[in-house]
This record gives sequence, C-alpha cells and structure tokens, in this order.
Amino acid sequence: MKPVLIVDDEAHMAEALSEAVKRCGLLPTVMNSPVDALLKLNLLDYSLILTDMKMPKMDGLEFLKEIRKRGVFVPVIVITGYGTVENAVEAMKLGAADYLMKPFSFEALKSVIERIMPSEDTDLVAAAPVMKKLVAMVKEVAASDITVLLTGESGTGKEVIARHIHKHSLRSSAAFVAINCAAISESLLESELFGHEKGAFTGASEKRIGKFELANKGTLLLDEVSEMAFQLQAKLLRAIQEREVDRIGGKAPIPVDTRIIATTNKDLLQEVKAGRFREDLFYRLNVFPIRIPPLRERKEDIAPLAEFFIAKLSAKMGRGYSMSPEFSRYLQQRQWNGNVRELENFIYRTVVIAKSETLLPPEDEFEYKTEEPRETPGGTVKDMERELILSTLEETGWNKTKAAEKLGLSVRTIRNKLKEYDLDKKDD
Ligand SMILES: Nc1ncnc2c1ncn2[C@@H]1O[C@H](COP(=O)(O)OP(=O)(O)OP(=O)(O)O)[C@@H](O)[C@H]1O
Ligand SMILES: [Mg+2]
Repeated sequence: MKPVLIVDDEAHMAEALSEAVKRCGLLPTVMNSPVDALLKLNLLDYSLILTDMKMPKMDGLEFLKEIRKRGVFVPVIVITGYGTVENAVEAMKLGAADYLMKPFSFEALKSVIERIMPSEDTDLVAAAPVMKKLVAMVKEVAASDITVLLTGESGTGKEVIARHIHKHSLRSSAAFVAINCAAISESLLESELFGHEKGAFTGASEKRIGKFELANKGTLLLDEVSEMAFQLQAKLLRAIQEREVDRIGGKAPIPVDTRIIATTNKDLLQEVKAGRFREDLFYRLNVFPIRIPPLRERKEDIAPLAEFFIAKLSAKMGRGYSMSPEFSRYLQQRQWNGNVRELENFIYRTVVIAKSETLLPPEDEFEYKTEEPRETPGGTVKDMERELILSTLEETGWNKTKAAEKLGLSVRTIRNKLKEYDLDKKDD
C-alpha cells in the first residue's frame, strides 16, 4: 500500500480525507501542520501529498514551495476553497500535480489520484529489437513455472523483468517477494529466507515467517544470489529441491510452493570455478538463463526510456516536459555505464534544475558526472595511474620525494610522468 501524506489543520477535514484515501487502497498519514510535516517527516517516504490551501503559519502554496525547494518530487494535490481559482493556478505554476476545489466528491478525488498514480507496477519500455525479443520470450517463460536466472550489469532492469515475469505468470495473484542476498549478514539472511521460531536464538523474541513462505504460491526473487554465503547455499539448494523450508529452531519442515527467480551481475559459472558458488545450486538456478543487455548494446531504447521517465515526472509535477533535439542527441551520445538507472537519475536531475519545460543538455558536464560503478571503471589504467600520482602529489604539497616514497616509485619516474602529463612546469 502506497503511503499518502495528508496535511490539513482542520481535524474533521483531515479525517474525511484520510478515510477517502484508505478507500482508494492507499495508506494515509495525517499531519495538522505543514511546518511539522517539513520538520518531522521525510517527505520522500510518501507517494503523494494532499494539502489544504488555507492554513495558519504556512499556507499550502508556501508548503508546496518548501517541498520543491528541497528537491522533493513527490506529487502534490492542493485543496482550495470555493472561488479561489487564482490560488489553484498559482499552485499549478509552482509544480502541483493537480488541485481540487471544495466541495468535491469522493469520485473526483479518486479520479485525480488515479491519474497521478497509475498502477505503475511493471511498466516496461522495450523498443530495441533485442529487448522486444527478450520481452516476448519472458512472456512465454512466465507462463511456465521454470526457474529463471537473470544476468546483466547493474541497472539494466533485472528486477523490472523479474516483476514482469511474476505479473504474467499464473502466480500473479499471490505475492512477489524480493530479497537481496548481498545486503545482509549470513545469519540474518538465513532467518529472512527461512524464518525462525520464537526463542530459536538470542534476540528471536518473536516467531518470524521467512520470505520463502511469504512467497508461497507466488514468486521469490533472490537478488544478487552470487553473494550468498557458501553454507547458506546448501540450505537454499535443499529448499528448492525438496520444496520445503526449515525455520530456524523449527521442529518439522514446512512445504512451500515458490517459484524462484535469481539475479546476478557476476558470471556465476566463474564463481563456481573459483569455488565460491556451489555447482549443484548453479545448475538448479541456471535452468532458464536470460541476459539483459547493457544500454550501450541497445541504444534504440535510450530515447523511448527517456520519454517514459519524462512523462512520468511530468504527470507528477503537472508539467509538460519535453526533449529538445539537442537533448535527445546528447542522451544518444553519452555513456551510460550505470545503464537504465543512470539514465533515469539523469533525467530526474535535469528536470529538477530545468529552467524551462524544454529540456536542454547540461552546460556544465562536471555537475552531472556520476560516480562510475566499481565493476566498470570508466577510465583506462593510465587514467587511474595519473589520478593516483596527482592526488598523492596534492597530499604531499607537491613534494616529489615524499610522493615517490608513498607510491614506491623513484623521483625520476614521477618527474617523467609529470612531463608526460604536461605538468612539468609545476616542478619548481
Ligand atoms: N525496460 C525498462 N523500462 C522502464 N524502466 C526500466 C526498465 N529497465 C529498468 N528500468 C528502471 O531502471 C531502474 C533500474 O532497474 P532495476 O532495479 O530493475 O535494475 P537492476 O538490474 O535490478 O539493477 P541492480 O543490479 O543495481 O540491482 C529502475 O528504476 C527501473 O524501474
Ligand atoms: Mg536489482
């Protein structure tokens, strides 16, 4: 259930809105003061903000301004009193997603909410021929109950595809549960996966149902499965093979009917060869491998993806952002080592600082430089060497003897390198 923040100083109005929001299948939180909302809440936690216009201390317009000033792009619906059209217009200018004029019906509220927050689960853009083929294949795979192994660089859309498979499977009415095997410690991961009984270990004050069980009749996504500890891999194998799980401290195994999808951005076979991943588990997971290509191998997807993200942001902001030809060209030429995620973040940042609704390429590329993902360092070894030498010189106040010592190089090498970088004038 998506969380919605309601800000209204009048208690009965807030209560009525809260009821209406619940009826829309959303999770309301009520604040009676915008100042408190700004101080006490992380506004990014909400999928939507509904605010009254007329409030003491800070009105709805100021509240909206403050929200946007913080770079928070959560859609805001402003509720205005009868006959205050100017305020509504002003709110739209400031980036409200929409407004409602009092009095309004439940249906009016509901339709505004539905327009702003379409059930956006598994929106999938696939324009490049390779992706079209992939999506077609995914649909077929979805219908069967086969175990899928998704590989691909960071940010290529592995989770998006996994959700898509679930959505198009016979299991779609049951849960899709994801667990990241890299994010938590081995012992915690075991209890997250398989659950534990009350008192199974120190700190197990309550019984916990594991994700395997939560995904019963549904789909379990094992994200970054290559990172799972070797010991735990054996337990996972058992759960998959026997179709039952052992809660930690449990007396008897519990049968489960869970479809497994695993993802990895490492070469799993390489991990097997290196002795870090169990071969038997590899074959259990690698039943139907799907490789999601990096964005550089499907440049035809760049523009449609950008359009898609821009449309989504426009709907949230009540704006009509569009790409200038230069902007499209720029997107096409730029490197996207962080793949779709980097493109999405880039569009987001561009919209935040855009001065008009027609988006332009950045003036200052440096501002936009994102940290390269560690697995794919952007520069060459030479670049890194240069970086290292220069930063060490910076550190030592350009004392070449000290820098040479630190780097384990001769002073002469450092001098030669500086000549190579055309920085030898800095020598004296
Ligand atoms: N084909 C697509 N259409 C629309 N949005 C996409 C597509 N692929 C990826 N995205 C978006 O890009 C972002 C990254 O996708 P996702 O989280 O699925 O990548 P990932 O491969 O799981 O990355 P990581 O390896 O870092 O976990 C998400 O916000 C997702 O919604
Ligand atoms: Mg992921």
